[in-house]
Amino acid sequence: MDRKDLRTPQGEIARILVEFLEVAITSVIFLKGIYPNGAFERRRYMNVVVHKARHPQLNEYIHTAVVALLPFINKGLVDRVAVIFFDDGDVPIERFVFKLNVNQSYNSKVEGANLEFSLRSFLIKLPVSEPLTKVLPRNCRWEIMAYFRSLPEASTSKDAEMWIPTDTKQWQQPPTIIPIKSMSSEPLGLQLYLEHPSLSEPKNEEK
Ligand SMILES: *[C@@H]1O[C@H](CO)[C@@H](O)[C@H](O)[C@H]1NC(C)=O
Repeated sequence: MDRKDLRTPQGEIARILVEFLEVAITSVIFLKGIYPNGAFERRRYMNVVVHKARHPQLNEYIHTAVVALLPFINKGLVDRVAVIFFDDGDVPIERFVFKLNVNQSYNSKVEGANLEFSLRSFLIKLPVSEPLTKVLPRNCRWEIMAYFRSLPEASTSKDAEMWIPTDTKQWQQPPTIIPIKSMSSEPLGLQLYLEHPSLSEPKNEEK
């Protein structure tokens, strides 16, 4: 992607968002306790204590995934970024959803510091939301998924290549939504919520 693309207000927002998402997604993984606590180290980010993975592969997976979204967030194509936990039958158990809304017509200067200040509150709220989340079974796996508003053109860039279309199992009923935090300031709106299978969701029969 052209560096000059990032000199627009949308580019500036996208850059801040991507950095934030990397930290926030790592916080979600830490929160769910699927790796030993020793796999993370404490860091400060936006003056909040956060966790960073010690494991290079884990770091790299999260980093590469969100950085690859930068051009698409910049163009307003990304609707949601989710961290999804699956049981060993590959059925989703819980989704942490970041819903993005970047005003594409906004053309004033972006106050990066204000934006970061608002995003910071998500990082503060996340750890205290742990009781709202599901206890995960032992053999679960997780992944990061992005939901696009529309499909990017085929040849956009190398970044697009790592985002492969997917066809994961879905819930049959609309999920239960548990809001965690939201902001709706100009030019960025962001919501973080949990999705759980609805109580009427047919259970996966083991037999
Ligand atoms: C987006 O930004 C433009 C320009 O600042 C503003 O006029 C418009 O109301 C904003 N749109 C929304 C949905 O807030």
